Amino acid sequence: MNKRVKKAVIPAAGLGTRFLPATKAMPKEMLPIVDKPTIQYIIEEAVESGIEDILIVTGKGKRAIEDHFDSVPELEQTLIEKGKSEFLKLVEETTNINIHFIRQSKPRGLGHAVLQAKAFVGNEPFVVMLGDDIVQATVPCTRQLISQYEITNSSIIGVQPVLDEETQRYGIVDLSSSVTEKLHKVKSFVEKPQLGSAPSNLAILGRYLFTPEIFKYLETQQVGTGGEIQLTDAITRLNEMQRVFAYEFDGKRYDVGEKLGFIRTTLEFSLNREDLKYDVMNMMEEILKEHSKSVSM
Ligand code: UTP
Repeated sequence: MNKRVKKAVIPAAGLGTRFLPATKAMPKEMLPIVDKPTIQYIIEEAVESGIEDILIVTGKGKRAIEDHFDSVPELEQTLIEKGKSEFLKLVEETTNINIHFIRQSKPRGLGHAVLQAKAFVGNEPFVVMLGDDIVQATVPCTRQLISQYEITNSSIIGVQPVLDEETQRYGIVDLSSSVTEKLHKVKSFVEKPQLGSAPSNLAILGRYLFTPEIFKYLETQQVGTGGEIQLTDAITRLNEMQRVFAYEFDGKRYDVGEKLGFIRTTLEFSLNREDLKYDVMNMMEEILKEHSKSVSM
């Protein structure tokens, strides 16, 4: 019998250097896409996938994340008094979820961040969700991985194809064989392969489901690429002892961990909103006109 997947870990202790100076005093996970912090999209996906307990791994300068998911009695009272029930609902949405926090003392890498969740997870399967990727899908991405776990009883890594020239930015899977069109057995995982040397173009995109055995490998994992304890290296070792699958999930992935992806996501999400789309389209047209004038001058 499979154990039910009820727990999620969200590592959010990274330095966010790609968004400096904005992330000097503010966590990158709190940068908003339109009007919602990126981490809230991740929490919503977890809840919609049936997750009941969430652990956020935070670090220095990340207090705003804890505050965001705490209740704010004065704000709630003011909104009640002013009859602003639609805003009250938005504020309350973030406080009715079971969220726990733990600190990673130093940003020693994603693998080290996940290791901080060992006591919280115990002897259960769990998911790891990274805030750098927001996935819009009919069936939430994490729910898709859970369904594959229910079939295989094994660790499942969420992947999607990326362009050949982008493989050097990701963990890439080397496949051994395919079980179905989307579920693959994996030979090994390579963290950020050099351009031209990637074994495939299937990239690990911020969604993982692990059996608790991953902690055995994280505990003994040596420092790898970039001087950090890499989650990818521990997955490779886990795969040598226990089958790990890669699953090509359905859905559109938005990369909000780098500037261009963040701008694109903001634009696309606002175009998906009835209250904003026409104004945003007009505004974009105006901006493009102005810029094409200055380019042709
Ligand atoms: P990234 O490398 O994308 O995030 O790590 P970062 O370090 O915050 O950003 P840059 O590269 O400096 O701009 C992927 C995820 O792992 C977390 C990050 O918060 C992010 O969600 N992470 C990374 C940790 O929690 N701890 C770490 O030591 C490293």
